[in-house]
Amino acid sequence: MKIYDSSYITASFENADICPVFRRQFHSEKEIAGASLEISALGVYEAMINGKRVGEFVLAPGWTSYDKRLQVQTYDVTGLIRGDNDLRVTVGRGWFRSPMPGFTDSDDKHRRYAQPCGLIAVLTLKYADGSEDIIRTDESWECGESAVRFSEIYDGETYDACFETEKWLPAQLLDWSHEILIPQEGEEIREVERVAAKRVFVTPKGETVVDFGQEVTGYVEFSVNASAGDAVRFDHAEVLDSDGNFYNANYRSAKAVAEYICRDGEQTWHPRLTFFGFRYIRLLDFPGDPRTEQFTAVVICSDMEQTGTVSCGDPMLNRLFSNIFWGQRCNFVDVPTDCPQRDERLGWTGDAQVFVKAASYNYDVEKFFRKWLRDLAADQRPDGEVGQVIPDMLPEMPGSAAWGDAAVICPWQIYQTYGSTAVLHDQFESMKAWVDFIRSVTTTPGLWTDHFHYGDWLGLDAPSGSYKGSSREELIATAFYAYSTGLVIKTGKILGRDVTEYENLYGEITAAFHKAYPEYLTQTEHVIAVRLGLAEDPQKTADALAEMIVRDGTQIKTGFVGTPYLLHVLSDYGHADLAWKLLLRKEYPSWLFSVRQGATTIWEHWDGIKEDGTFWSTDMNSFNHYAYGSVIDWVYEKAAGISHREDAAGFTSLVYEPHANPEIGFLKAELRTRNGLVRSSWTCGEEGVRYELETPVPAEVILPSGRRTVEPGKYIFWEN
Ligand code: BGC
Repeated sequence: MKIYDSSYITASFENADICPVFRRQFHSEKEIAGASLEISALGVYEAMINGKRVGEFVLAPGWTSYDKRLQVQTYDVTGLIRGDNDLRVTVGRGWFRSPMPGFTDSDDKHRRYAQPCGLIAVLTLKYADGSEDIIRTDESWECGESAVRFSEIYDGETYDACFETEKWLPAQLLDWSHEILIPQEGEEIREVERVAAKRVFVTPKGETVVDFGQEVTGYVEFSVNASAGDAVRFDHAEVLDSDGNFYNANYRSAKAVAEYICRDGEQTWHPRLTFFGFRYIRLLDFPGDPRTEQFTAVVICSDMEQTGTVSCGDPMLNRLFSNIFWGQRCNFVDVPTDCPQRDERLGWTGDAQVFVKAASYNYDVEKFFRKWLRDLAADQRPDGEVGQVIPDMLPEMPGSAAWGDAAVICPWQIYQTYGSTAVLHDQFESMKAWVDFIRSVTTTPGLWTDHFHYGDWLGLDAPSGSYKGSSREELIATAFYAYSTGLVIKTGKILGRDVTEYENLYGEITAAFHKAYPEYLTQTEHVIAVRLGLAEDPQKTADALAEMIVRDGTQIKTGFVGTPYLLHVLSDYGHADLAWKLLLRKEYPSWLFSVRQGATTIWEHWDGIKEDGTFWSTDMNSFNHYAYGSVIDWVYEKAAGISHREDAAGFTSLVYEPHANPEIGFLKAELRTRNGLVRSSWTCGEEGVRYELETPVPAEVILPSGRRTVEPGKYIFWEN
């Protein structure tokens, strides 16, 4: 990249909260054959040439482990160049300089917050006569205060439309690493949809609120006719309280306020250097009477192609599917985050691990995860420990089982879904290092003992006052230790490495596990023993799980760790009917309870809003946490029957084993795999169940009447 020879520049004035704008004016006389801009920033930038925005990437350069990796974007800007040119770049704090995480303090947080803003770029002008001009960031650039008076990830943005940059100063050179510069790896974050406001109303408290009818991630664009100096100011919320009032206590310390000072006349604005997670806004200031048509929610997310669809005969289940897709879009903004609204919005490794399979069916996330996994490897600590969040904004916090295992599970799943071993090549050292880390810190060989863990986070069998379910933490930790070691072995074999050491380790872990845990006490313990391959008699364990669930009132008690695998274990061992019962249950706790309560995304807690309309809590109550949406991978694989064996990564062949359910009438699923489009549907009628399969690859068909193998093609099967 040419950018390596450019200098970083920074603002030459004390800019505190005001976002600086950098400017370079130039004249180009000759006929242009092509122009390209390589650019990156310490912060998030918006670049304009002659008043037109460069590219569609919102919040560029995206979010990486900035100390080690900073993405560079390359834009073709040929169409924007004229004779006299004005190149301007406004730089906001973004993830680079915002005080993140908001819920905790640390030296590292202060270090990041105090970092300088920076810009680095090179513009190459190629002329028709074959000559070239190269314009690099250096002291010839100018800088000034921009109309963005404040911008930050949690608190929002303030823009003064009356402000004109009058004072321009020479930019200053900034000494910053060039080694961190890497070409763009992830998907660009883009504006992907516009959601018109559904209504403007006054709450019982007398506040004016705009409802978009759907929780989204992005920002609100409004149009207004105003006088210079009028203010527009609003904050954001996900839900209303039981009285119908605006409620945002669950954003905790994140202020999430957008503020705009108007100029004279008709004008349209939206924040440009930050984003919010919301369904509602409360108008704190607004000139005139607000009308619905003045407001639009602009949805932003990593620009991933949708690869999966599911629909069925039950409207509530369809709403759940929609909530899962929305939950993914809302939280896949360059990094897989836990939630998009409160003072967190971090790349929690556990959440990503739990959801990666579902994510990889819903959308093409190969690029997205490969980039994030490189950040994970970059941020891995010298002893192989993987932090709780990636980028690691909690470097002082220890890793946890089922969180750090994202280092192993995510690459393996990306390989399984898409079939390319590239991700395994990239990540193998990191995968091994995580397992080596566990081996080096455990106090009991073969088990993972004496370490911090999140356990079965948010398990419903948690003792009162605790967020951790009552499954034994060290059982979970050891099970994941075994599972990750097993995946390292499989990966090593695919890559042709010697994995004898890990095979021995695996034997040691399973033997120790069996000795230490002769019985399982909770739903989650049963689930992971079977799913992670540790139960000595999986059928017996799955049967015991089924009995336990029924004894518990045919309801889930699992948390983050057990929930994603629960329905799989049931249907894999002859309890598909029970799996369906859990999925179709409408009372708390269940997936459909939140749908009944009006959810438009997936909730962090099964009872984020309780039956009586009150909230689960204010301190941990996100209404947009994708983790429990992982259930959709069961819908593709077991309900619709679209799956593959481990040695058919990328769906080079199919295992088609659907589990129909008369209660919902029909189910249709499509999955665009790397080997072609798979279509599956079933309809339950009086004459039995009609299954339709369209497969681009050979398929092993497993139906109640028996097994057969079919070649690529379209098939109809009937079962009574
Ligand atoms: C996050 C989770 C995360 C957890 C760690 C929470 O605050 O929102 O989703 O995995 O902490 O247990």
